[in-house]
Amino acid sequence: MTMKPKHLLTLQDLDREEILHLFRNAIELKREKKTLRLLAGKTLGLLFQKPSVRTRVSFEVGMAQLGGQSLYIGPVELEQGKRESPKDVARVLSRYLDVIVARTFRHAEVEEMARHSEIPVINGLSDASHPCQALADLLTIQEKVGHLQGIKVAYVGDGNNVCHSLMKGCALVGVNLSIATPTGYEPNPTITQWAAREAKKTDAKIELLNDPLKAVKGASVLYTDVWTSMGQEQEKQRRVKAFQGFRVDGKMMKAAGHGTLFMHCLPAHRGEEVTDEVMDSRESIVYDQAENRLHVQKAVLLMLLKR
Ligand code: CP
Ligand code: NVA
Repeated sequence: MTMKPKHLLTLQDLDREEILHLFRNAIELKREKKTLRLLAGKTLGLLFQKPSVRTRVSFEVGMAQLGGQSLYIGPVELEQGKRESPKDVARVLSRYLDVIVARTFRHAEVEEMARHSEIPVINGLSDASHPCQALADLLTIQEKVGHLQGIKVAYVGDGNNVCHSLMKGCALVGVNLSIATPTGYEPNPTITQWAAREAKKTDAKIELLNDPLKAVKGASVLYTDVWTSMGQEQEKQRRVKAFQGFRVDGKMMKAAGHGTLFMHCLPAHRGEEVTDEVMDSRESIVYDQAENRLHVQKAVLLMLLKR
């Protein structure tokens, strides 16, 4: 009987020790500039229903640096999941590839793919979660602040996929997280309840507020994401109205405190959820954050393929 592959669909697939182990390996891979051929002969398939810069490029480059190769299967080939079932796609690709990164609209689709896949499936962003992003975020915070346990991070904006993964990650590693969203845009209650249970084990405090200025006070890091995610474009007008007061600008950074760092998963809608002033400020670590996608995902690939 073949062993079931380990997947990374959400951060619930990892425990605290595994996350910290990934960070140690990522830091080593980042330091080690030479090419390692640990994944020679392995092929990664990137199945993307939505556009991407960071996820696609960092996985392709990461795989190449580890001696493997990648191929991209985009929205045209996938016909937004309408051409064939995720089940059949997963079964067929398991015969060609060694690992899959899937970017889907519906989280249920990446779950279905994983259920039927004989090779590891990594979620490269679904409507519910973005685990690779949260791993890079927490690694970046650890590098910049020096440690994770007990620090305060504030997330201001939409209770979306990025917020969900950040919340799970913070709960798992013991980071206090204050989330401020407009009413009606809170994170999914099931995910919030899961995070609250995990947070008890690591002494982290996860709070949900509707007042951004209250949430950001005393935070080491202020994090935001777009108000309108991919697939929600028809809601844009309504969202722009609902999110008034949630833009991260110089005043909000000041309300957070002295030395608060700014983070954003990118792509940013400059002038909407964040001003140019903040994006381009000394406190902004958004490009270091993007770079760490590469290092932490190389550690993820090694973990899933070298078992
Ligand atoms: N942050 C992130 O996942 O970026 P892309 O959508 O460009 O991959
Ligand atoms: N919340 C954003 C994240 C993009 C990386 C989206 O889903 O479009």
